Amino acid sequence: MKFLEIKTQIKQFDNIDELPQADTELVMMARAAAEKSYSPYSNFKVGTALLLENGEIVTGNNQENAAYPSGLCAERTAIFWANSQYPDVPVIKMAITAIKNGKILPSPVAPCGSCRQVMIETENRFNTEIETILDSSGEIWVADKAKDFLPLFFEGKDLE
Ligand code: THU
Repeated sequence: MKFLEIKTQIKQFDNIDELPQADTELVMMARAAAEKSYSPYSNFKVGTALLLENGEIVTGNNQENAAYPSGLCAERTAIFWANSQYPDVPVIKMAITAIKNGKILPSPVAPCGSCRQVMIETENRFNTEIETILDSSGEIWVADKAKDFLPLFFEGKDLE
């Protein structure tokens, strides 16, 4: 037996002022999208802003349902919309914000497992990487790619 070591790296910024201007703008759009979330059951508002390779920005937020599992996370709402409207345009960057009780969370929240899997499918589909910015009112975390959040992902190749 031997150990398989899996390493992953995330950049940590002390606060939003340390981000490049374009990234700050994407984060601001994710924050605005979070405000428009439909989340009457959890009162947990999540917003996402995606930058596409053609410069287009697509936003999304979590959409809840009285039948809980019928709802959808912000990340998948935004990615599915982007991929349905722009099937040939890669997603290259993504910002994610969460708001609880009217306040941006004090530390970054990472996307759930299902959203990570969908983000990775989009990376594989276009053979690109999605730089992912996790917003908070304190530190900001930036991953170079979705695969940094889910190193052991399932992919189309596994079905062959
Ligand atoms: N949520 C997201 O939108 N993204 C995530 O990555 C985690 C959770 C939403 C789903 C649900 O509407 C609420 O947050 C509470 O789980």
